[in-house]
Amino acid sequence: MSNAHTPHDMSDPVRQARRITRPLVLVGLMGVGKTSIGRRLASALDRDFVDADEEIERAADRTVAEIFEAHGEAYFRDGERRVIARLMEEGHGVIATGGGAFVDPETRALVLDQGLAIWLDCDIETLVERTSRKNTRPLLKTGDPHTILRDLKEQRSPAYAQAQIHVVTGDGPHELAVERIIEELAAWQ
Ligand code: S3P
Repeated sequence: MSNAHTPHDMSDPVRQARRITRPLVLVGLMGVGKTSIGRRLASALDRDFVDADEEIERAADRTVAEIFEAHGEAYFRDGERRVIARLMEEGHGVIATGGGAFVDPETRALVLDQGLAIWLDCDIETLVERTSRKNTRPLLKTGDPHTILRDLKEQRSPAYAQAQIHVVTGDGPHELAVERIIEELAAWQ
């Protein structure tokens, strides 16, 4: 008899992916969809989700843009490093990080050692289009967003490429990216 509609009816990749107990840490450039894909991934795997930028804002009681403006980028990066170390220590299920977090050698080493880093990668045109919808990212206010994102991609790709999992997404629905991540997680040993 079929029990196709019981809560135990998980597709195989989901069941396989759920074996991984380390925090799943989404890394990649601004606009790639780390927060939104992270939320959906957490819900598909029945894990909790936390967004590092939101946690930084909560801890500082200021927005990221306000922190950059009042104290500069180096100060923001210090806070970011501390907050991500705390989130890793707390053992959250899925953690979305800000685009620069995984470039920091300490954060990268911690995530690679105790978590599973997932690099969400995407073409620059899509990133430019998505980031243009919000005006909250201080790094994109200093010049032409296309040039800035292209340069950041070049500078940061060697760090992102160290992530255990690499998923290339396009301008398609985030659900598709979640499916692809789950397949990669299922295959990960
Ligand atoms: C940054 C990305 C932002 C935020 C800050 C700096 C970066 O997060 O942390 O504006 O250096 O790429 P998102 O990647 O979530 O936009």
